[in-house]
Amino acid sequence: MHSLETKKYLSMVRGKAKISVHIVCLGNICRSPIANAVLLNLTRDLSAPKVEVDSSGTGPWHIGQSAADFSTQSWQSAGYEYHHIAKQFQPDFFKKHDLILAMDLSNRANLLNLAKSDEDRAKIFMFTSFDPKKSHIDPDSKDGQILSVPDPYGGPIEEFESVLKIIEAAAAGFLDWVRSEVILTPISE
Ligand code: 4NP
Repeated sequence: MHSLETKKYLSMVRGKAKISVHIVCLGNICRSPIANAVLLNLTRDLSAPKVEVDSSGTGPWHIGQSAADFSTQSWQSAGYEYHHIAKQFQPDFFKKHDLILAMDLSNRANLLNLAKSDEDRAKIFMFTSFDPKKSHIDPDSKDGQILSVPDPYGGPIEEFESVLKIIEAAAAGFLDWVRSEVILTPISE
């Protein structure tokens, strides 16, 4: 997934004192709220860098609503604390956030359509690219679909629980990335 340019961008982001992450799905009531809940809880106590987590959907249908009941149940029963209100992705979010993380390939395609510059496009990644088992996959390759978190909308609780597992693996990888990269600091005399 990571070309030299994206590696450089990620390294620059990793060096910031505060990283603003924005997670995007279609409706912002099923997948991105779960990812929001998990990543928020995993990164809450970090201070260097500080990580801010937010989410939205590219579609307008659920603005102002709570997350789907099975989404809320899945993160609450796994012990994550989070209160969600759905919102729609706005073009100015590209400027506000460092990383825009898509839950599936169609969310990524929608975001690429909304992006107005190379600077905007450079911020778009697949959420699951932070899972070390998937980080080698290019979203534009024939295997790209492996990076998609399946849409559980209207499905049984088991689908939401399986989404939670996929998200937890990627969120753990994100946490490792945030904590592990060596930051060079000047040695004081
Ligand atoms: P999400 O799931 O993108 O994971 O929040 C969906 C929620 C709502 C709809 C589609 C997917 N919908 O068509 O309203």
